[in-house]
Parts: sequence; structure tokens; C-alpha cells
Amino acid sequence: MQLDSENRLSAPNSAAPSVHAEPAHPSSAAPPLNSAADEAPRRRTTLAVIGDIHEQWDTHSAAALASLNPDAVIVLGDIGNEDVELVAQVASVPHSKAVVLGNHDAFYTMTARGRQRAVRMALMSSSLKGMAPPGEAVRTMLSTLGSDHIGFGAKHFEELGVAVVGGRPFSKGGKQWSDVASFYNEYCGIGSMQESAHRIVDVALSQPPEATLIVAAHNGPTGLGGRRYSPCGVDWQQPEEDFGDPDLQEALEVIAGQGRPAALVLFGHMHNTLKGGGRRDMAHVDPGTGTVYLNSAFVPRIQRFPVDWAAEKVRGHHFLLVEIEGGAVVAARHVFAASPEELRELGIANGSSTGAGDSPVILAEQEVLKTAVAPDGNDALVMSYFKAYSAEWVPVVVKSKATAHAT
Ligand SMILES: [Fe+2]
Ligand SMILES: [Fe+2]
Repeated sequence: MQLDSENRLSAPNSAAPSVHAEPAHPSSAAPPLNSAADEAPRRRTTLAVIGDIHEQWDTHSAAALASLNPDAVIVLGDIGNEDVELVAQVASVPHSKAVVLGNHDAFYTMTARGRQRAVRMALMSSSLKGMAPPGEAVRTMLSTLGSDHIGFGAKHFEELGVAVVGGRPFSKGGKQWSDVASFYNEYCGIGSMQESAHRIVDVALSQPPEATLIVAAHNGPTGLGGRRYSPCGVDWQQPEEDFGDPDLQEALEVIAGQGRPAALVLFGHMHNTLKGGGRRDMAHVDPGTGTVYLNSAFVPRIQRFPVDWAAEKVRGHHFLLVEIEGGAVVAARHVFAASPEELRELGIANGSSTGAGDSPVILAEQEVLKTAVAPDGNDALVMSYFKAYSAEWVPVVVKSKATAHAT
């Protein structure tokens, strides 16, 4: 992990080895969650989570993703402003994937203000390059994504033992419903926050009982703090407040109350860089349920990093890598990965490429979650998450999955 004086993710120090190739599924990290010696080694699943893209996606992003060799990819929306072509590009990545579109993906359609924006743009330009007509764009994106779009739905990755349940798509955060009511009615058949919560619960509780539940949404739930630096906190105006989705919090509480707490809740929307300075806390662990909450919205997601093996800065593409083992999240880290193809095109020899494949080249990284067996045993785990604003690790003792199931 490399942090500068303002606790921000940064490139490695040029004096240190500045790049490293690594196996797609690192074998170090946390120990297995259950210590029973007679158990067969558990499979570790790697999810690559892509937060708010905001037009920052190209063929090299896809190559960087491929080099990470994830088991599945979760895309959390704000791909562009109703950018149908870019959604199609993202949809074409060959990995198993699930997508939840964000508020920017309905930028011109969702609210009266958005429709006014579209009119203004049409008046300013005779051709809206890359844009489908407002209204049609959202339907086109949904049809392009097909069953990969899991807003108010789910996808069961049977081979991974994981079911990813989608929260309310297109969320712009907060409690207000009146300005989005007609949109949700027309595009999702949902009439209220309450109905939205019920739909998410229905989908979650209909997943196969053996599957590990992951909930993916564009915006996170309320309940993770009301400070400007909280995972879903308002940083652009006073007073600072919780800008999470209340329907998602309600749904998560009901699901947990039914004995099936989500192992992981993934979201974006609330960007990591705070207005007024500082870095947002991007992780949280609920001590009661052991549910891990991870915000993946590093914006901009393509950044340039200095390295000691190239004269110019090298582009890194952001991904949140989450490791799941034995039905629980055991590690998570933000990475900026270079595209091996781009390095070749630029004629950069980084000294780590095997030449045979495209080993990942990580330009910068920051751990946000790590797990260890509690020192006193008793089937307890210590899940530690990183609070970026104060640059501190917070340890949380939770029961192991096996114990939680027994109670
Ligand atoms: Fe965003
Ligand atoms: Fe957003």
C-alpha cells in the first residue's frame, strides 16, 4: 500500500520496486475462515468491481481487466451520460458479469431537469453524436445488457457459489422520490421506496440457499454514517448528511433478519475524492452481521503514475478486487492496473512480463479489507477495514460463517 501525506492512493516510491507481476489469485493474504484441519482447501473467488466509469473506459481498460483474470466482473453504473455506445463496449467484455446502471446512465431521462438538459443540448448542437434520443437510450442500454443487468434482479454464478442481487438501478441517492417517481414507474414498474425495498427482498430471498449473497447497487444504503467522508455522506453542501438509499438499508435489514445476511454490499456513486479536501471512507464492516460494505467509486478511474522503468507516466485503470472464500469476504484492495497491450504499444519493457501471457502490472494499490482468525479462537474472525479519511484500520470481531449459521 502506498499513501501520500494526504492519505491518497499513489504510485509506488520510485526508489522501491515500482511494478510487480503477480498471480491472478494471490495466495498470501488472509487465512481461511474456518480452521478445521480436515476440510479440503477452499476455492478463492476474485471479483473485479468497476465503479463509476464516467466515460473512462477504452480497449486498454478491457486489457487491464483481462490481465487481472477475475472470476467475475461487477459494474456499478455511471458508465457515461446515457452513452449507449460505451455501455455496449463495457457489455462486450468476455468475463462473467453483472451490471447495475447509475443515475448518469439515465442523465437525460430520469428527471425533469435531465429532460431540460437534453433540450438544451439539442438546441446547441445539430447532431447529438453518440447519443440515442432521450428515452430510447435507457431502453437500448437495458436491452444491450440483457440478463447481465441485475437492477431489481439477480444473477446466480453457480460455479462460484455466489448470487449477486441488484439493488435499485439508476439511484441518484437520498430520500427524495417525487422527482424520480414517473421514471421508476415507467422503467422498473416500481411506485415507491417501500415497493423498491420489497422487490429487493423478494429477489434476495429467492436465491438458492447455498449461494453466498452479494448485493450490488449504484448507491449504497443509509446507515453507514452521516459525515461528509462517510461511505455515502454528502460532501458538496452543508449540512453533511447520510445520502444512502433508505430502501436498500431496509431491504438489507429484512434479509439479515431472515437469517441470510449479505456477505458483501458493493456500490459506487459517492466518489472517493471529497469536495473541500480529503478522501472518503470506502469500506465498512457491520459487527453484528459481518456484512462488508465497499464503495468502489474511484474517480477518475484512469490515472497516470510515474514508474522508474519508463520515461513517461503510465496509465493505470482502477479496479476494486474482492476475494471471497468459504462464503465470506476475506480481502479487498483498490488497484490501478496497466494494460499490458498498451505497454507493448508504447515499447515499454517493464521487466515483469513473461512474454507468454499478460501478467497484471499493478501501478498502485491500497488494501481496504483484511481478515484474520481471532487470537482467542472461538470461531471468531477479525475483519479489519481501512478508513481513508483518517488513515486508520478499524478491527471488527465477528463470528465465523460456520458459527453464525449455527446460531
Ligand atoms: Fe458517479
Ligand atoms: Fe452516480
